[in-house]
This record gives sequence, C-alpha cells and structure tokens, in this order.
Amino acid sequence: MTPTPSSTLQTLFRVLLLLCLLTITTRCRKAPPVPTGLVTEKAMVVSAREEASRIGADILRQGGNAFDAMVATEMALAVAYPFAGNLGGGGFMVYRQADGSTGSIDYREKAPLSASAEMYLDSLGNPIPSMSRMGATAVGVPGTVAGVFEVHRRFGSLPMDSLLAPVIALAQRGVVVTENQARRLERVREDMIAVNGDSILFANHCKAGDTLRYAALAHTLERIARNGRDEFYKGETAKTLAAFIQAAGGFITEEDLARYEAKWRDPVIFTYKDLKIISMGPPSSGGVTMNQILKMMEPYDLSEMGQHSARSIQLFTEAARRAYADRNFFLGDPDFVEIPLETLLSDTYLQERMASFSFDRATPSSEISEGAVTVHESMETTHYSIIDQWGNAISATTTLNGAYGSKLYCPELGFFLNNEMDDFSAKPGTPNMFGLIGAEANSIAPEKRMLSSMTPTLVERDGELWMSVGTPGGSTIITAVAQTILNVYEFGQSMQQAVDAPRFHHQWLPDLLTFEPEGFSQGLKDSLKERGYLINEEYTPIIGKVDGILVLPDGRLEGGADHRGDDTAVGF
Ligand code: GLY
Repeated sequence: MTPTPSSTLQTLFRVLLLLCLLTITTRCRKAPPVPTGLVTEKAMVVSAREEASRIGADILRQGGNAFDAMVATEMALAVAYPFAGNLGGGGFMVYRQADGSTGSIDYREKAPLSASAEMYLDSLGNPIPSMSRMGATAVGVPGTVAGVFEVHRRFGSLPMDSLLAPVIALAQRGVVVTENQARRLERVREDMIAVNGDSILFANHCKAGDTLRYAALAHTLERIARNGRDEFYKGETAKTLAAFIQAAGGFITEEDLARYEAKWRDPVIFTYKDLKIISMGPPSSGGVTMNQILKMMEPYDLSEMGQHSARSIQLFTEAARRAYADRNFFLGDPDFVEIPLETLLSDTYLQERMASFSFDRATPSSEISEGAVTVHESMETTHYSIIDQWGNAISATTTLNGAYGSKLYCPELGFFLNNEMDDFSAKPGTPNMFGLIGAEANSIAPEKRMLSSMTPTLVERDGELWMSVGTPGGSTIITAVAQTILNVYEFGQSMQQAVDAPRFHHQWLPDLLTFEPEGFSQGLKDSLKERGYLINEEYTPIIGKVDGILVLPDGRLEGGADHRGDDTAVGF
C-alpha cells in the first residue's frame, strides 16, 4: 500500500516526538555534572589521609605510573592511617590500563595451616567471638606486602626503594594526629591496653595536634626496601613476627608466612545501562553482590524516581536484600568452594529473584532465602583511588578488619596485626560482628581466604575510563559503592557530591533498613514503615567513607574525598 501524504507526515511527527523524548531522557541521565571536588588536569590520588595521597601524587609527578603510586600510597597509609592502613593486613586491587586491559589482585589474608572449622568454638560448639576478634588468636596471615611487591613486579616502573623512601621518611618524621584520629584512638584505648599492656605507643592519650613518630616501622620498611618481599615472609621480619604472634598465643608460624602468595584473579565485569563495571571477584563478595543489585535494578527508570525517594530506596533495598541472601550462602574462597557464578549473575536468575518485588509492600527477609541454585565483617577498612597521567587507573581497598585490627601491636616491627579471621563464619548460621549470617562456603579451613565485602571498582562509559571508586564499611561497602555510582550516573551528581551524599543500607539479615543520621526525613521513613519496612531507629551510623575519581568529559579529573573522614584528593 502506498502511504498517503498525511500518514507519512504522522509517521514523521511520531519519529520526531520519539527522538525529542529520547534526547530529553538521555540528557537527564547523561548531562555531565558540574564538578565540586578537586579538579586536576592529569593525575590524582584520593585516600584517607592527605599525607598518603601526597606521597602517591608525588610518585606520579616524578614519572611513576598508577601502579608505582599504588605501592607508595598503600605503604604510606600504613604509616599515616594505622587505623586500617597496614603491613599486617590484606586487600584487593582492581586495575585498568590505558589500553583498556583490566585485572585484579587478591592480597587477602588467609587462615594459618593449623586452622580448623571448629577453632573458635567452645566445648558446647558455640562461637567464642572474642577469640576471632581480639588479640593474637584472631590474626590471619598478612598479604599486603606480597600484594604491593607483586603489583610492582608486574607493572611497576620506578625502583621499589624509591617508592618506599618517602614512606620511610614520613614514618621517621611522624604524622600529626587529627581530631578524628584522636577520637578513634580514645575509643579503642582500653582494648589496646587489654591486648598489649600499657607500654605501647598508642596507650598514651593522644591529642589532636600531637605528632606520632614510627621509628620501629621505619626500620621494618628499610629492611623491606633493602631485602625485598622475602624480608617480610622469610627473613628477619618473618622470624620476629611469627615468634611475637606465637608468644602472644596466636597460630601463625614461619611456615605460614613463607607459604603466602598474592593471587591475580579475574575481576567481575558487567554492564549497567551504558556503563561497564569492573569490580573485585571472590574471595571478595563485593563485585558479585553489586553486580546482582545493579542488574536487578536495571529494568527500572531510577533517575525518574528521584534520589532518596521512597520508591528508589525500596527498589535498592529489595535488590540488596536478595543479593545479600545469595552472598551469605554461596560465596567464599573460590580456591576452596564451587561458586555458581554463571547462574547467580544470569539475567534470567536475577529477574526471577525480583519476581516477588512490589512497590506496595516490603518483602520480609524471612520470605527470602538463597536462590534455588544447586558471614561476619568490620567497618574499619580503607580505600584509595588513583589515575595517572597516561590513563592507567587502580582502585584498591585494604584492611586490618576491625579498628587497628586485632589491636595486637608488634612494638619491635611497629605495626598492628589484623583480626581478619573474624570474617570467616566461625559457625555457619551465626551472625558475625557485622550481623552477617555466613554459611558453609565461608567456613574456616587451613590456608583458605575469608570472604570479604571490599568492592574496589572501576567504571567505563562508552568504552572510556569513567570512574575509580571504593570505600571501607564492612558489610555496607557494597551498597555504599553502588549508591555512589548511581548518584553520579542516575542522579547527575558530581563525584564530590556523590561521595558526600547520605547513604542507607540493607543486608537481608538483620531485616532492618539503616539510614545515616542526616539527610533522610521522618516523613520518608514513615512512608517506608507504612509499606512494611523495618527501620533501624536505634542505630544511625556513618556508612562508609567513599573515595573516588571521575573522569570529566574534557578529560580532567574530579576527586571525591569523603567529608566523613580526613580523606583528601591530591593531584596535578
Ligand atoms: N574486613 C572487611 C572486609 O573484608 O570486607
């Protein structure tokens, strides 16, 4: 049939209307946000302390690449931010090179050879939480030194001793205590004394403005700079460390240290609308759980719902509830457990998981269990993001688990030891210190890595690097990272606004929706209550301290350094 002039006009009109609508909605979501954080031309480091960001940025300025800066920043955090920065802990890093190739490294702690599934149970089979949280019995085999040396071996361009030199100088010169640090030190002082006695450096009342010098740590770093990775795992440092932990009643031996290896892992890569997200895979649950959450939300027009509207919070919460139920059941160290990743991340499976979702009423967590496919954590981790002048990017999250880890401090070596053993399920079905209920997949076994929530993440848009982001926050890490990405992508915020925006959290069990203290009205909470949501009225904690870098449309970089901490962006 030949079209009449009027039907051709109508079709043309419809096509034009559609194009206009598409342009308007695309523009709503894609209008580049006006930057409000530090903007630099070429390169940037964002971390929990200015001293560490500055050391990393100086390495970049001297011609080092993002991987060199990673080594220096990670080590500088051990000096400037001993709350979570570490030699005695572990972490994960995701990278994207300027040519677009991606990967990730796991330098997570692992259980000692003598570990067993029952090691933290009493004679009646009940968990003894203090044993996996405080003191020498809580310590997993540290991975950080192996991690930075492995990153440097594969991608570094400057000599290791030149990367460690400014860190050693910082330890010798000392670091000024901030208000935040003084408050945190006071909070854990009694525990530190209970574990170490009162002769350690941190047993004193430290005030804001005091300078803490780390002579022992400087000596340890000097030996590592001189003798390399094996100094920590096989040399004098290893001998001192193993003897110290054992004398304090812990399990780690020289053999445990000698057998430690950091591992390159495949990152979790998925799309959300026109973003490509590259995040950490098991033994971190971060990438898998964020993948599930965002994919469950993808069919909805979130930007149209509005940031922090009841509907957008409901959608996020229901996706998170379902994803955390899977996290706690299926995830663990992939070298020890079979994880049905293909199914867990398939569109069909995720659509089925959301089939019971309705905006009318909350889905009680008792109605959600793990999906029909054939945990416990701490808040005191730290994250840093780096982009160099060539476009290489890293996103790294590192931890001692609790604040100052197990609180066990080795005076001779000058650093704290982790309490990462508490991230295992000491007894499947029993909540950990984050209230996460773990399962068999995360039970303890010799040399197994404990499940983590750390979510160091890189994001591409239109095939180009777009964002580096991550945060501390234990079980809240995953929701905080996902919300930050959505804040920029869906709600048009700048990087700085996105990290500062108030956050909320749900993790399946306990079945509670937790809000930060500021930014959510009583009216909003009441309307969620009416729909069956259980609001955590008792506890309104700070959720995460997100640090990120956004690549602006003109190629400059915007830093997002979380105002909740002393976090600082430095670049040029
Ligand atoms: N210890 C915190 C985490 O690994 O997620």
